[in-house]
Amino acid sequence: MKTHVVDHPLVAHKLTALRDVRTDSPTFRRLADELVTLLAYEATRDVRVTDVTVDTPLMATQGVRLARPWPLVVPILRAGLGMLDGMVRLLPTAEVGFLGMIRDEETLQAETYATRLPDDLSGRQCYVLDPMLATGGTLAAAIEFLFQRGAIDVTAICLLAAPEGLAHLDDVFRGSGRPLKVVTAGLDERLNEHGYILPGLGDAGDRLYGVV
Ligand code: URA
Repeated sequence: MKTHVVDHPLVAHKLTALRDVRTDSPTFRRLADELVTLLAYEATRDVRVTDVTVDTPLMATQGVRLARPWPLVVPILRAGLGMLDGMVRLLPTAEVGFLGMIRDEETLQAETYATRLPDDLSGRQCYVLDPMLATGGTLAAAIEFLFQRGAIDVTAICLLAAPEGLAHLDDVFRGSGRPLKVVTAGLDERLNEHGYILPGLGDAGDRLYGVV
């Protein structure tokens, strides 16, 4: 598994504002959106392209375009939805699938409650959107789901990651031969006893959409 903590002053600036307890939901949504577009730029570094010839007004030259099948973007409901627009802004031809996963707050185990994905992901590069890589249980289950359907590689894009979550993903996928990358704006200190990232930014879903 590869981990990329994006080290850029604009990313750090937006992440700091996201962490701030005084940041209201509309501002949080806008900042998350902008931050994801910056992360997406790094996350798509290995997106597959094919060579093409393009005619400029002056002559033909060589270029590239995104290869088919198009990449698949998979926000994990509900908080991952807050990252979708920022991602598809950079990858407008990507298709979008949905995975609803919920974490049991006592056992911290992830359960799938909704799926809307192609049955066959053979040859697809997948980009999973989940703002908080905490215990890693939800993300590991989502990534496994995509690999089982045939994804050729998976990149998880997270606003924040905890060392425990990265270690869990590494444990699950090490030696599996399944190419996995995590791209995040920050690697925080640890989890608290409730599985929240410290210092973190709180509950990403609640901060995006309010407490329900
Ligand atoms: N989910 C969140 O929204 N925040 C955390 O800190 C951990 C999991």
